[in-house]
Amino acid sequence: MTTPFEQQLRDRGFLQTTTPSLKPLTGGVSSEIYLVEDGDRRFVVKRALAKLKVQQDWFADTSRNRSEQAYMRYVASFRPDAMPEIYQCDAEAGLFSMEYLEGYRNWKDDLLAGHCDVDLARRAGVLVGEIHSRTWGDSRIKADFDTIPNFDQLRIDPYLRGTAQKHADLATKMLAEADRLTRSRQCLIHGDYSPKNMMHLDGRLVPLDCEVACFADAAFDLAFLLNHLFLKSLFHVPVELPMPEMISAVREGYGDGNPEHYREVETRAATLLPMLMLARVDGKSPVEYLNVDQQSFVRSFTREHILRDGIPLKQIAENWFQTLQPLMNE
Ligand SMILES: Nc1ncnc2c1ncn2[C@@H]1O[C@H](COP(=O)(O)OP(=O)(O)O)[C@@H](O)[C@H]1O
Ligand SMILES: [Mg+2]
Repeated sequence: MTTPFEQQLRDRGFLQTTTPSLKPLTGGVSSEIYLVEDGDRRFVVKRALAKLKVQQDWFADTSRNRSEQAYMRYVASFRPDAMPEIYQCDAEAGLFSMEYLEGYRNWKDDLLAGHCDVDLARRAGVLVGEIHSRTWGDSRIKADFDTIPNFDQLRIDPYLRGTAQKHADLATKMLAEADRLTRSRQCLIHGDYSPKNMMHLDGRLVPLDCEVACFADAAFDLAFLLNHLFLKSLFHVPVELPMPEMISAVREGYGDGNPEHYREVETRAATLLPMLMLARVDGKSPVEYLNVDQQSFVRSFTREHILRDGIPLKQIAENWFQTLQPLMNE
């Protein structure tokens, strides 16, 4: 039986045979994503879901998918290895087809399994640093990715305002940071730069899921990625993995790719990081892999760092691993 999605693919010229197979790919919740086998052609199609977290969508869902296509095409223009090749785009229908990354590993799966690849972390830092520095202050890119309301609805609001509601004594700081993020326009950010959205094979690292791409604040991508590495190190306690090295590698890689603005971005990432960490415990989208004690650990560490503010990123990492140390020996 032909599904409505298959019919749409046919109507929009994505299919050549009458008997394609469509296999859903597992992952996120914001899109429909399928591996399509159509004769001897194989590709992935992605379409933004009609209803997700965005209720009052003056932002049509298709606009998220358009931002994603635009981001992938733009990044591929100078780093073709870093994006799946896009085969066919239909901005109006809000869908596109791309290269199937066959045999690639998901970086989050690796991290949860305790596989740490410091070089991969460095490459993730270099890539996002390069995208930031290349687009820094670029007025054309700013106009092309003028999607702050989308970034606000999908990131700033659920992470920062959502968490501020649960911590009245932190609310002033968290709301001020939310406000700063809505106003900051520095460079092209990915907006969901997390290991769950990164695939890799033989040294090629490919970030996916660029639908929150936006001309916004650079510190967001850096702090977002580091947040995941911090929380994974807690998940693995009492097993000690080279997570401090991975975190340093991200920072150093980012600095290589973004030398001019590095210091400024790091300072702001240091403010944002503990807030994002707390958001993964008390915000609207908590991580699934931390137990109650681990959640309390995050709460206590981040609350102290948010209240003190002004602690450099390197110091936050040192404090984190020092605080974890006694749990390693339990
Ligand atoms: N081009 C691709 N090749 C192989 N797997 C893919 C590809 N695109 C997406 N996937 C798989 O589908 C999952 C969900 O894709 P993603 O773009 O992150 O969608 P969502 O917005 O729903 O999170 C990814 O984590 C990955 O496992
Ligand atoms: Mg995803």
